[in-house]
Amino acid sequence: MESKLTQDAHIDIPLICGAMYPCSNPELVGAVSAAGAIGIIQPISLTFVHGHDYREGLRLAKQVANGKPIGFNALIEQSNKFYRERMEQWIEIALEEGIRFFITSLGNPRWVVDRVAQVGGRVYHDVTEAKWARKGIDAGVHGLIAVNNRAGGHAGSRSAEQLIDELRPFGVPLVCAGGIGTPEQFRSAIDMGYAGAQLGTRFIATAECSAHPDYKHAIVSATSSDIVLTERLTGVPVAVINNNYVKRLGTRAGPIARWMLRGRKTKHWMRTIYAVRSAYRLKKDLYKGAGAEEYWQAGKSVDGIHGVEPAGEIVRKFSAAL
Ligand SMILES: Cc1cc2nc3c(=O)[nH]c(=O)nc-3n(C[C@H](O)[C@H](O)[C@H](O)COP(=O)(O)O)c2cc1C
Repeated sequence: MESKLTQDAHIDIPLICGAMYPCSNPELVGAVSAAGAIGIIQPISLTFVHGHDYREGLRLAKQVANGKPIGFNALIEQSNKFYRERMEQWIEIALEEGIRFFITSLGNPRWVVDRVAQVGGRVYHDVTEAKWARKGIDAGVHGLIAVNNRAGGHAGSRSAEQLIDELRPFGVPLVCAGGIGTPEQFRSAIDMGYAGAQLGTRFIATAECSAHPDYKHAIVSATSSDIVLTERLTGVPVAVINNNYVKRLGTRAGPIARWMLRGRKTKHWMRTIYAVRSAYRLKKDLYKGAGAEEYWQAGKSVDGIHGVEPAGEIVRKFSAAL
């Protein structure tokens, strides 16, 4: 099926395996691309969690993708100079390795658009509402990833239906992110007018994802009522499976953190502390078995996920629904 997304990303099926920290290992990214959709590299997951030299990791994903395109996720919120320089280098190397499809999250994506567009690449920007979409559009992005209130990771607050109405006036292709676990749900997002869909949770329960088998089985067993938003990981709500550990700890940030997050200056410190702490924490939890005080991220799409399957098989089934 042709859509603006398939044209922009040079793929056959308008389906994205979104970036997932810590779950995006290069074998998963490559397997999704090899099947005709597109897998997105999460650079911190690639290097810090999965231990690859950055360029070597990109090449591994490309090799598995067997000549089909892969994409790259640039999280551009951090204003810190060191991080910005690192991201610029990562993007340069991604371009050298032939990557032409980029997804930006948070922050102002202008510098990414300016660089990537020079070589004919495309940038889609993750947004949860019109206010952020406006910023992305003003920066020249080519498409928007509409992250809704059923998404894994940092969920939005609007439904898929509300978001398409709110974002359609921007006149760029819209990709539905959140809550899609079955081929039928994919089909209905396309019927609603989306140019494609971005999935996360569905692709954790795959043979290629290197997460602990208990994490995958927790996704298969969970229903959407088991998904809660916790502030305790990153300071902003993140969707996780409500296991005994999460229940015991509660989902609100502690009083000191809440106080720091309110202050104009202390907010930045607290966010940095959270970012570093959660990066270590989630890396460890990826390989923990059940009952080991684990945080396992997942979205409400768990409702439609009934088994661990090869990533390519999922892409084929989703494609057949179009
Ligand atoms: C475990 C997990 C980690 C995620 N990490 C990131 C990330 O690092 N960067 C990002 O832009 N999105 C991240 N996301 C969001 C996904 O890319 C995608 O938009 C979302 O999972 C779609 O919702 P779904 O899980 O219901 O399919 C993450 C999602 C999950 C489930």
